[in-house]
Amino acid sequence: MKKQIRTNHAINKFEGKIVLVTGASSGIGRQVSLDFSGQGAQSIILVARSRSNLEDLEKTISRKFNIKTIIYPCDVSKKSEVEQMGREILDKCGHVDILVNNAGFGLYGKVQKQSIEQIESVTFTNYLGVVYCTKVFLDSMIARKSGHIVNLASVAASFGVAGLSAYCASKYAVLGFSESLSQELHGTGVGLTVVSPMGVKTNFFNNSSFGGRIPYYNGFMLKTNTVSNAVLAAANSHRLEIIVPFYMRAGVWLKHTIPFLINPMIGFLFRRELSRSKLGENVAR
Ligand SMILES: NC(=O)c1ccc[n+]([C@@H]2O[C@H](COP(=O)([O-])OP(=O)(O)OC[C@H]3O[C@@H](n4cnc5c(N)ncnc54)[C@H](OP(=O)(O)O)[C@@H]3O)[C@@H](O)[C@H]2O)c1
Repeated sequence: MKKQIRTNHAINKFEGKIVLVTGASSGIGRQVSLDFSGQGAQSIILVARSRSNLEDLEKTISRKFNIKTIIYPCDVSKKSEVEQMGREILDKCGHVDILVNNAGFGLYGKVQKQSIEQIESVTFTNYLGVVYCTKVFLDSMIARKSGHIVNLASVAASFGVAGLSAYCASKYAVLGFSESLSQELHGTGVGLTVVSPMGVKTNFFNNSSFGGRIPYYNGFMLKTNTVSNAVLAAANSHRLEIIVPFYMRAGVWLKHTIPFLINPMIGFLFRRELSRSKLGENVAR
């Protein structure tokens, strides 16, 4: 009986909500989309570039849950595509209650060896993609005095590490943008929360820049459902940032409090990892 009550409560948590997830075709975004669908959302809008992966997820969702599913192939790094997506979704659905800006990727390697175009591509997807998607739905959320934006950052938004400069910079930017915007949104009825996980077992590390190896892939890496739980909690939270797992917050606090001790340790570990990879040859330890 108790279990039944808990289950019903969970199912109704997002009742009537229209949820849009970017980067829904894989990893964290896929799990988040499944979990919102299983918790009573009215409609789920799945956004990513890969139509076939979105169609596959759409089939899985409609097999399991009674929810309206819309797929929208879109490259979030392209402003015009995002603007068109925003217009069409607002025409079709009227509004979006929960926007999960999750699309993103990492490129591993030294700044010296990366092209400007590579660095730009990370910035355009991970940071400007969040800005474009936020801008297309923000007016409507503020006009309705309702809505929540959840931005996926990373613990890389608090630690700059060797081999991931563009990625870390993009996530610092997401955190800074989110912190400022959440101050502006005070009293509007619209919320904003950042979710910052440490390493998660997804396709993220399959990018060829990681050289076919998965740095730091170990037992400490999170499962997608752990991060998804944090994203669903974030959609109803007043907090600015949820770090996953929670104890990593202590690491962030230590880094800001005693950087002269923490930075050399982090520096040593990540430089060693970079120097072991093909891309990190000749990196000073
Ligand atoms: N995995 C980790 O260790 C980790 C840790 C902290 C934070 N994160 C963050 O979590 C988010 C999700 O990553 P993940 O781990 O789930 O990786 P993933 O499995 O590789 O998924 C990335 C998703 O982003 C989409 N995407 C990438 N570029 C896009 C673009 N230009 N336009 C639209 N969609 C795009 C991909 O879909 P398409 O290829 O179909 O477009 C895919 O659905 C990212 O923001 C990542 O930075 C990951």
